[in-house]
Amino acid sequence: MKICVLGAGTWGVALASLLAKNNHEVVLWSAIPEEIEELKESGAHKNLPGAILPVGISYTADISVAMADAELCLFVVPSQFIRSTARVVSPHVRDGLIVVNAAKGIESGSLLTMTEVIRDEFEKCGRVSGYHIAALSGPTHAEEVALGLPTSIVAACEDERVALTVAEVFKNSCMRVYINTDVLGVELCGAMKNIIAIAAGICRGIEFGDNAKAMLITRGMREITRLGLAMGCERETFNGLAGIGDLIVTCTSVHSRNNRCGELIGKGYTYDEAAREIGMVVEGYHALKAAMELSEKYSVELPITFGVDRVIHGGVSPYVVIRELMLRDVKDELKI
Ligand SMILES: NC(=O)c1ccc[n+]([C@@H]2O[C@H](COP(=O)([O-])OP(=O)(O)OC[C@H]3O[C@@H](n4cnc5c(N)ncnc54)[C@H](O)[C@@H]3O)[C@@H](O)[C@H]2O)c1
Repeated sequence: MKICVLGAGTWGVALASLLAKNNHEVVLWSAIPEEIEELKESGAHKNLPGAILPVGISYTADISVAMADAELCLFVVPSQFIRSTARVVSPHVRDGLIVVNAAKGIESGSLLTMTEVIRDEFEKCGRVSGYHIAALSGPTHAEEVALGLPTSIVAACEDERVALTVAEVFKNSCMRVYINTDVLGVELCGAMKNIIAIAAGICRGIEFGDNAKAMLITRGMREITRLGLAMGCERETFNGLAGIGDLIVTCTSVHSRNNRCGELIGKGYTYDEAAREIGMVVEGYHALKAAMELSEKYSVELPITFGVDRVIHGGVSPYVVIRELMLRDVKDELKI
């Protein structure tokens, strides 16, 4: 298959490598020409230590070259660039194209998921139908996928046949792909878990223990599920790899930037200082505003998410927020 990968960050490069190893014809595009030159010259990505890129990948900063004859195009830019990237891609969308989104986020204001943002931009450019759209999400740190370590992921599409096609494209002995038709649930999990990971990081930063981490993961999953059910998603999605699977890895892994960002905040950094130190996108921070808006729109309480917001935007001490969370008086919720 001819595949265009949009975005040359760690996840874009790791997925481009996987697809090239699966014998697809892969073109990697970036909006940043210098990044393309660097990848061409070095055959490696600076944030993927130990990973050598397969020789078969071609690189370009020209979208018409990247999208020429593409049968599948994969969006892997950070969520805040999905809309602008979709705008650039839309004139090149041909009938039958499979569009796959691998970014994790919710757009604040519109409250659209990333596949919805792509669809919205395509429609604005007069591309209403003729293509398929799917989401790819799960517990998949790029650093491990790039090294070929065993990983699993979920391909989600309302049309199950398309989800199966996407699964076929990505699967190999290192990548096991499950399918789901609940696209909204899969994308919501991917965006919301990053906020809970910041909370888990904050707890580590103030040297709370594993008990607190387990509580955050479990209750974090509960609040994501509550929101998802109010939005009409399937409960099973939250129990799967894109739900609890991704939440576990993000809250526990050394590779998680959201977790690391939280840890620095727990140690007294401001968000800006922590983001500078990390030097890569912290999606949980960007999802926070949309999560607060979703909470209001669907009248669903998100106590951990609100706690993270109070620490980051309200300047409230994590100790104060955690004390409030521990003493919250909500009898109905104390049942499980
Ligand atoms: N890194 C992972 O392990 C991982 C795993 C699963 C999902 N994701 C998701 O994939 C998405 C990308 O993550 P990443 O880790 O590759 O991020 P990253 O910070 O490594 O990616 C940055 C890349 O974004 C692109 N970019 C920067 N500015 C741009 C612009 N103005 N317009 C278009 N593109 C621009 C560039 O190619 C740049 O290299 C995120 O939504 C993330 O949540 C990441």
